[in-house]
Amino acid sequence: MRVLVVGAGGREHALVRALKRSAGEPEVLCAPGNPGIAADAELIDVAVDDITGLVAAAEGCDLVVVGPEAPLVAGLVDELGARGIAAFGPSAAAARLEGSKTFAKEVMAAAGIPTARWSAVDDVEEGMAAIDAYPVVLKFDGLAAGKGVVIAADAQQARTALEDFLVERRFGDGQVVVEECLVGEELSLLALCDGERAVAMAPAQDYKRIFDGDEGPNTGGMGSYSPVPGVGPDRVAEIAALVHQPVVDLLRERGTPFHGVLYAGIMLTAGGPKVLEYNVRFGDPETQAVLPRLRSDLLEVLRAATAPGGLADVQLQWSGDWAVTLVLASGGYPASASTGDVISGLHGVPELIEVTHAGTALSTDGEIVTAGGRVLNVTALAATAGGAREAAYAAARGIAFDGRQMREDIALRAVDR
Ligand code: AMP
Ligand code: GLY
Repeated sequence: MRVLVVGAGGREHALVRALKRSAGEPEVLCAPGNPGIAADAELIDVAVDDITGLVAAAEGCDLVVVGPEAPLVAGLVDELGARGIAAFGPSAAAARLEGSKTFAKEVMAAAGIPTARWSAVDDVEEGMAAIDAYPVVLKFDGLAAGKGVVIAADAQQARTALEDFLVERRFGDGQVVVEECLVGEELSLLALCDGERAVAMAPAQDYKRIFDGDEGPNTGGMGSYSPVPGVGPDRVAEIAALVHQPVVDLLRERGTPFHGVLYAGIMLTAGGPKVLEYNVRFGDPETQAVLPRLRSDLLEVLRAATAPGGLADVQLQWSGDWAVTLVLASGGYPASASTGDVISGLHGVPELIEVTHAGTALSTDGEIVTAGGRVLNVTALAATAGGAREAAYAAARGIAFDGRQMREDIALRAVDR
């Protein structure tokens, strides 16, 4: 069995590792990957936006697993399907759930999914008029690498964000969604979908802000843990029936069935769970905490999800251990990212700790250096949340590079319960 993973981050490194644990002992390739992934998979030098190159690289593969959203939205899975290559991920039509905020909101309305009140606007004054309370959430209607959401505390901040999106066109042409600000705890619930059925994975929590105490700007995610206190298997099934299954049913009825991972970003409000957003891929860094807990065979379930109704008999099995993932980010992130800083201590990490590479590169003298905002992920498993947290921090403290940023409060919430 030959499997190609598309992507170059910590999520893809975790996918590669989990696929290699499969009983079928697959040969795992990764395009383009990174120096850390190179230790676990054969790298193919094709970028994630080179659809033609990826299709060529997938020739002879039994399965392609697509990590990031951009190639999904660009139709990679459709192209592979047309050539008879099985791929785990949604078609371009189904990937619009992530590619367009207004499309996602329309689907939520049609499927009866609880979400924040919203309206879509085209210019700054229309946006200001649509706001009825502060804080307010403003979202650019398109892919913006996690930087298209602003929580504005007052009119001045709202105007600045609307001008950035609609006048400066920071992310190109597109509308802005003006949305009610929800209050509660966030939950990431991912479900594997086979076009007919959504099978929930273990729940996770992600830390979006750069600084401790959820301060500072949003990032791609600074840490995660799984499972989540208060969200046991019954609650997970209830939430999946409320926010995942109706979307899968609706898209099937519309003739654009959803295959792949449907990731719901959820706010657990006093009035029940409400959807903040859908993503059409594995979460990063949620995947790094969730996959090491999976006891089922990842390769088998991902293959099953590519066929209509293929997950009918699948029940995912999970370890009872807790997993905590820390993100080590480079200096300046998220506004910028320092690159080329030498990373030390990687060889001293205890064997049971999983270090996945996100933004790393090999320098000309063969050293591993920083090459992006989020650089490394450190994941530990233990019987308690406190034990996993301590093991992850102990390991992470041994890894150093100039400007390194790491939150100190990841999973504290789970320990305090
Ligand atoms: P999104 O990309 O839509 O998930 O937004 C990124 C982050 O912004 C979320 O994970 C939340 O932390 C926050 N956010 C998004 N929408 C809302 C909302 N309606 N109310 C409160 N926070 C939100
Ligand atoms: N951790 C947030 C995301 O993957 O979008």
